Amino acid sequence: MASTNGNGPAEGEKVNTNIVTLTRFLTEEQVKHKEATGDFTLLCHALQFSFKSIAYYIRRATLVNLTGLAGSSNTTGDEQKKLDVISNELFIEAMRSSGKCALLVSEEEEDIIYFKDSTNARYAVACDPIDGSSNLDAGVSVGTIFGIHKLAEGSKGTKEDILKPGTELVAAGFTMYGASAQLVITMKGGSVNGFTLDNGLGEFILTHPNMRLPRSRAIYSVNEGNSLYWDDKVKRYFNSLKEAPDGGKPYSARYIGSMVADAYRTLLYGGIFAYPADKKSPKGKLRILYECAPMAMVFENAGGQAVNSKMERMLEVVPQHIHDKSGLFMGSYDEVEKVKAFHK
Ligand code: AHG
Ligand code: MN
Ligand code: MN
Repeated sequence: MASTNGNGPAEGEKVNTNIVTLTRFLTEEQVKHKEATGDFTLLCHALQFSFKSIAYYIRRATLVNLTGLAGSSNTTGDEQKKLDVISNELFIEAMRSSGKCALLVSEEEEDIIYFKDSTNARYAVACDPIDGSSNLDAGVSVGTIFGIHKLAEGSKGTKEDILKPGTELVAAGFTMYGASAQLVITMKGGSVNGFTLDNGLGEFILTHPNMRLPRSRAIYSVNEGNSLYWDDKVKRYFNSLKEAPDGGKPYSARYIGSMVADAYRTLLYGGIFAYPADKKSPKGKLRILYECAPMAMVFENAGGQAVNSKMERMLEVVPQHIHDKSGLFMGSYDEVEKVKAFHK
């Protein structure tokens, strides 16, 4: 019987019994590919578990003394939070136990981790276990970013299997731990799909099928505190957004400081997100393998664009080292065109 007491659907409301979970979605994708062995699906199941468990610990952090620093720093010199360390370990164990991951690059690990016991594994994964960790203790949205490469034919897993341009990614995406956990995933040549974690069911549910960025939107997202260090083209571009020619309105500024959260908003609402290379960080701040390239793949597959500070297509940049950094401008198609115009 229909109820209106908050425990069930309101009168006249229909319960959706045909729910597309991430597990169902992956199985249906697998069926579309006759050559698929099921390995990729199993790898994604392991990824999904790591996202659920990281989400779980983040939600409980303040209650169980998981806020604050771990007392160590990672390879790029950032101080590690306790949750950076725990999430990294959860991610590594999920990849190891899947048996499908030959090697893993993590922001929190200096070197590549090789899973020698996973003898038949055919995938290489790069991850930022917690992106935006400076926001953790304030309860602001953070996330996990991932990119998946396939090993070269006959390879058992070497550094060359991960030091590849984003154009070769077989899948990429991120999870944002916000008011709810949102998982965004895309596969090579495919669409971008968004899932929301239903805590009651413990399942990611397809809530945002075929995500497409608005073609333009007057929102910019950048750490303007760095503007002293920007080069003139970057300064001129951002200044232009604050002008209101012909009686129009200037752009709105939105900067959360967690790329996953700024990127998720940009995917939904449109606009531009940037972390330009500057005089202080001539190579940029964001890491190519596990921040820039996976996001660039998501943005391109959703109809947007992503370029580095030299205005090169982000997905074509080949990293020399696993923790290499880059400048990044990404967002709505027309907004990135404006950035390029200022760099001509
Ligand atoms: P991480 O927490 O993995 O080190 O990444 C933080 C990144 C990214 O999330 C964000 O866009 C940027 O750093 C914020 O940097 P600023 O504090 O310099 O703006
Ligand atoms: Mn990060
Ligand atoms: Mn991180």
